Amino acid sequence: MWSSNTNMNGGIKDSDKLLKLKYPTLSIQSLSNYLLALHTKLRDQSTNTQEFVKYSNKLVHSLLEYTLSILPADYYDIKTIQTPCNVPFQGCSLISSISYNNNNTDNTMNSQLNLCGISIVRAGESMEFGLRSLIPDIPIGKILIQRDEFTQNKQAKLFYTKLPMNITQAKQIFLMDPMLATGGSCILAIKTLIKLGVTIQQITFINLIACPEGLQRVYAKYPQLKIVTSFVDQGLNEHCYILPGIGDYGDRYFGTV
Ligand code: PRP
Ligand code: URA
Ligand code: MG
Repeated sequence: MWSSNTNMNGGIKDSDKLLKLKYPTLSIQSLSNYLLALHTKLRDQSTNTQEFVKYSNKLVHSLLEYTLSILPADYYDIKTIQTPCNVPFQGCSLISSISYNNNNTDNTMNSQLNLCGISIVRAGESMEFGLRSLIPDIPIGKILIQRDEFTQNKQAKLFYTKLPMNITQAKQIFLMDPMLATGGSCILAIKTLIKLGVTIQQITFINLIACPEGLQRVYAKYPQLKIVTSFVDQGLNEHCYILPGIGDYGDRYFGTV
């Protein structure tokens, strides 16, 4: 049996340390016992749809909080407030997703898109609620991509996109999909964005479960992509499913098993 936490040192698996050396823009959530308990619940085949949604929401929330915690300082504004003890406290606040500037020459308002989410439908939609709960004003676009189960390497196919108009100006785009298996869906989503004029520096791929094969394929194509993941599993089986994995995330979340 593959053990999830063999050779752990300070919450980091030895295998993760090597991956982080290989891919400098890869961030892996530190593995606490609490995080491991959430993964255990979600991955258990006896967990029903209702519980799956509940634990998925918890894991996504924790992953998104981690993502926000590693954003560079220029995503935050310095903010001073008065505490109930009437003492000033200097802290910060996350920049708004959209900022409005008054154009002094013709007195019109220009808007700037700072943060934006995009979910890879279907399973990526499970991360939208978590993103909105942390950043209520964030625009969320959608890219519908499905793996073709009849092709041997589960080729990803694009069906539909609906994105914010000014997507190319976004300071950072959170591209969300809970599963990174062969990497085909992630690569196709990024290709679609790049075709529209988005740069790789503008994208952070946020993911719950990755595997070495998927990371290798994505990083071979986009070495500068920022990936934030909760867990890197052992690898793929002959059907391109992640092991130990979770099964089909979309089917389990939406109850279409
Ligand atoms: C799943 C998952 C990813 C993709 C990952 O989607 O949500 O999008 O597979 O696999 P890959 O890295 O090999 O491309 P799926 O096609 O099953 O659609 P679903 O979200 O509707 O379940
Ligand atoms: N998509 C899933 O939902 N699960 C896998 O293991 C691989 C792709
Ligand atoms: Mg699926």
